[in-house]
Amino acid sequence: MNYHNVLRIRNYLKQQILPRLQGFPVNININKKAIIDMTFQKLLLQSPASFIDLGGVWGVNGAYTFYTLDHYTISQAYLVDTNLNDSVKKQQEQYPQLQLISGNFGNADIIRRLQQVDAIFLFDILLHQVSPDWDEILEMYAPLTTCFVIYNQQFMASETTVRLLDLGKEEYFKNVPFSQDLPLYRTLFEKMYEMNPEHQRIWRDIHNVWQWGITDTDLRTKMQALGFTEKYYKNCGQFGKLTNFQNHAFIFKKS
Ligand SMILES: C[S@@+](CC[C@H](N)C(=O)[O-])C[C@H]1O[C@@H](n2cnc3c(N)ncnc32)[C@H](O)[C@@H]1O
Repeated sequence: MNYHNVLRIRNYLKQQILPRLQGFPVNININKKAIIDMTFQKLLLQSPASFIDLGGVWGVNGAYTFYTLDHYTISQAYLVDTNLNDSVKKQQEQYPQLQLISGNFGNADIIRRLQQVDAIFLFDILLHQVSPDWDEILEMYAPLTTCFVIYNQQFMASETTVRLLDLGKEEYFKNVPFSQDLPLYRTLFEKMYEMNPEHQRIWRDIHNVWQWGITDTDLRTKMQALGFTEKYYKNCGQFGKLTNFQNHAFIFKKS
């Protein structure tokens, strides 16, 4: 077994098995839990506090929203996603301070419905953001928050951020965790400039597919320009089999 496989198994045990042994729900990633805890225990000392979970639904049914509501005193929370589902809606009934918002969180109309909060979670979503792009999303949300709590698959194979679709079909599929046989990806390149009826935008610009390879340098430069200081960073290891992507966790606090 080579060094990288050993690291992958070690990360899997730490991130997936250990939390279960400690009694955490199956869908909670221990590194995302850690940055939530650090934010509310060490960086934001006021209570009650407030937060927005952007794109907190797919695969986890709002697990980070509900974890935070269960473990901290929260006066106002928002979960914003284009794909709210019945599980999330059912759980929301127990939390009157949680507002579910259905829609694209890049829309100015959605942003106008949100009040100032202490923290915004962006977990596995920055690399999906186009029109507005990932850095424009950060700009739009910066006035609304004290902390950005970010967990993202960061690109290691370039000095600067790349739009993955611009790499061409072959390189694109070497750099995303999905096969080109899947329905969403099968005709992505052929339909690139056709309208996607669900999202009312061209296929090239839908958030459901992988869009960006964001570098740490570009993310840090953006956050600094927006007046945020990096308070925490962790390299959480390679993302699955993708040698060019690593999971990186960050907390940035308004300076
Ligand atoms: C990869 S999943 C991440 C889920 C969760 N945050 C986690 O850490 O496991 C991306 C989620 O964000 C939502 N999403 C991504 N971009 C969005 C946008 N611009 N507006 C609304 N929802 C978005 C998707 O619908 C999906 O539920």
